[in-house]
Amino acid sequence: MGQFKRSLHRVVAHRGASADAPENTLAALSLAIDHGAGSVEVDAMISSDGVAYLHHDDGLERCTNGTGYLCAASSSELDTLDASNDNPQFRGEPLPRLDRAIDLLISHGIGLNLEIKPTPGLEKETAAAVVNCLKSTWPTTLPLVLSSFSKEALFEAKALWPDAPRALITCAIPEQWQEELIALQCQNLHMAAPLLETQSAKEIKQAGYGLYCYTVNDLAQAKELIAMGVDGVFTDKPKMIGAGLKT
Ligand code: G3P
Ligand code: MG
Repeated sequence: MGQFKRSLHRVVAHRGASADAPENTLAALSLAIDHGAGSVEVDAMISSDGVAYLHHDDGLERCTNGTGYLCAASSSELDTLDASNDNPQFRGEPLPRLDRAIDLLISHGIGLNLEIKPTPGLEKETAAAVVNCLKSTWPTTLPLVLSSFSKEALFEAKALWPDAPRALITCAIPEQWQEELIALQCQNLHMAAPLLETQSAKEIKQAGYGLYCYTVNDLAQAKELIAMGVDGVFTDKPKMIGAGLKT
């Protein structure tokens, strides 16, 4: 697919090192880097004026000191928020703009799985903002995968940046998984770890797709998935899972 180095690492820090730092913050990304993660996964959504931020939920309440929908707040409002998620060790940690995260990851040579996480109704706009941030900056030498549960967002990403590798995220594997991956021209399937069965893993790998599972914080489970042929796992604990998979 284009000139991009395709593969994410076997251990992908989920929302950064999110067991030990507030998820989807620059602090969580820095800690994941310190903990040896080669690739990270983050979620991205947009403000009312179309700026992409790292954030998982539609609402601001769980992870920041803000309220309401992120997509209803302007970038100037979002830039004032504390995203430390009530963790005193990280008080004052900002809600990061995607472009700041990209700068940090590129400067450390870290791979990125950017999950396009649109508030429903903003699929195309969110995909466009993400592509706009990455297209002129992301080096082809570093792993990059754009992923989403939203097929509409993936179609838009494909239209705007066909060369960027893509992944469909699902919980269970859809019956028509291969038709869906072909239609979206996705290279990877990302799915919920407990729902993967050995036979399906075999079929997906035999068909030539990348297969990654979330969210794996248990070393025995990670080892079992790798033995099934899974290419990598998303984990909140990249240090522990990374060290364990080396042994
Ligand atoms: O991208 C894998 C995983 O992050 C998908 O689920 O809800 O953690 O974004 P979620
Ligand atoms: Mg995610």
